[in-house]
Amino acid sequence: MGEKEDRINQLLKLARLSINFSLTLIASGILVSVLILYPPSFDKTSSIHPANVSSTEFSVDSTEIKNGIHVPSGLIADKGFELVLKTCAQCHSIEVVKQNRATKQGWKDMIVWMQKTQGLWDLGIDEVPILEYLSKNYSPKNTGRRKNLENIEWYYLKD
Ligand code: HEC
Repeated sequence: MGEKEDRINQLLKLARLSINFSLTLIASGILVSVLILYPPSFDKTSSIHPANVSSTEFSVDSTEIKNGIHVPSGLIADKGFELVLKTCAQCHSIEVVKQNRATKQGWKDMIVWMQKTQGLWDLGIDEVPILEYLSKNYSPKNTGRRKNLENIEWYYLKD
């Protein structure tokens, strides 16, 4: 092997190296530009659990109350309404709740029905205050005051 051939080989090696280097540069340049133009989104709000499809109807944080009504949701602003809002507007509109009237047992039955058929979770310690609120504020409407009872025979219940 002559000295000339060695030189040529060295030059070829250098050329290959520099081509590789420029290609790498170009590739990274393209990658960086794409990342800048279309930044990846790490938004987790599209999780499928209903608990994460939180309602965008209104902000639960808004506390504006007018004439005893929580303005953003229209719920009666009584003790526990935040809990109902937080829990019961996750799968359907809070309108579904507001449009209904029931006794405590009636509300309990609806909750059990949703738990059995609609994937509603166990409400845990929230169930009691939720039922209290619903049965107090969304009870079957009275159609006026009933007449006083007369001639009642009182008796004691035995246990
Ligand atoms: C896991 C999802 C989910 C949650 C949370 C949920 N519901 Fe429901 N609920 C449903 C579905 C589904 C329906 C039936 C579909 C519809 O009517 O839009 C329904 C229907 C209802 C109805 C109508 C029942 C009828 O007879 O038509 C009422 C009232 C109701 N829900 C109240 C509540 C209350 C009160 C809460 C909070 C304790 C609540 N929901 C939380 C899923 C849910």
